[in-house]
Amino acid sequence: MEQELEKLRSDASAELERVSSSSQLEEFRIKYLGRNGQLSGLMKQLGAAAKEDRPRLGKLANSVRGDLEQIFTQKSAALAQQKDSTERPDLSLPGRRRVKGSLHPVTQCMEEICEIFASMGFSISEGPDIELDYYNFEALNIPEHHPARDMHDTFYIGDSVLLRTHTSPMQARIMEDKQPPIRVIAPGKVYRCDSDITHTPMFQQVEGFLVDRNISFADLKGVLTVSLQKIFEKDLAVRFRPSFFPFTEPSAEVDIACVICSGDGCRVCKKTGWIEILGSGMIDPEVFKMVNYDPEVYSGFAFGLGVERIAMLKYGIDDIRLYYENDLRFLSQF
Ligand code: FA5
Repeated sequence: MEQELEKLRSDASAELERVSSSSQLEEFRIKYLGRNGQLSGLMKQLGAAAKEDRPRLGKLANSVRGDLEQIFTQKSAALAQQKDSTERPDLSLPGRRRVKGSLHPVTQCMEEICEIFASMGFSISEGPDIELDYYNFEALNIPEHHPARDMHDTFYIGDSVLLRTHTSPMQARIMEDKQPPIRVIAPGKVYRCDSDITHTPMFQQVEGFLVDRNISFADLKGVLTVSLQKIFEKDLAVRFRPSFFPFTEPSAEVDIACVICSGDGCRVCKKTGWIEILGSGMIDPEVFKMVNYDPEVYSGFAFGLGVERIAMLKYGIDDIRLYYENDLRFLSQF
């Protein structure tokens, strides 16, 4: 029995040396250390040994088990380490697709509009979303208690601080700073307490204005008609409708034929066949006086267009609120 235990120890050690894979290691464990393995078989025979030999043989069997378990553990660790360092990616596996993000449709539209005006010689300037009452209203010929303030549904932050309701404050900010000739667009977010299928509380505008000597309403019509045709990439019908803004005189709202229903009338154009996309006009002499420009020398036009409205028409979206619901099924189509 003693010899058999010693033989088992040396056979198993020699065999373990030759083991080179985890499947062989498992076969080794079952053969020598498993419940029905060779060592268990010998231990079961201990009961048949002479009583005085049993303690010595039991001790020997335990030492063989201890040794085998130790070298088994060492081999198992060595194989695991070897596997880590030799494992290579399986080049035959199909690749994992990366999910690619895209720009928000309103951002895409904003970028296109800016590029079109930049190609017409306008420079780009951005101003603050949190604005002083002075620039949002006063400098634009809208003094305190002027009824036009009611049309703006303003979010006030303090007595003289607010979330800008339009990008027109940039007219005053830029003219305060520079002398004509000026040809600038000012894109950015604006805020109004307003929400339905064509209005959102936060939306984006692009302000544009041009000041120089001898600028007329014909320049305004020409620049806006050409830029709208470039934005919509077709010869669409453009309509200038008389309107009123305290900072322009004369003023016009500009409509284009509804692209959703081709002018037949739908819920987006409120059955009129036209949709309003921008406000415009010749800069009021009062605004020039506030920034110390001489209205006898200079004239200019200004416009402010709604980017979401343009994006709705370009992409055939019939509810403006979809842009800001953050539904990826909607956004990932663009
Ligand atoms: C203005 O905001 C003027 N500052 C535009 C202007 C600039 C006139 C320079 C003259 C000279 P209005 O409130 O009409 O005008 O808004 C301009 C455009 O913004 C609208 O034609 C419309 O396209 C868009 N718009 C207005 N309110 C909303 C809203 N709540 N949600 C989405 N788009 C809107």
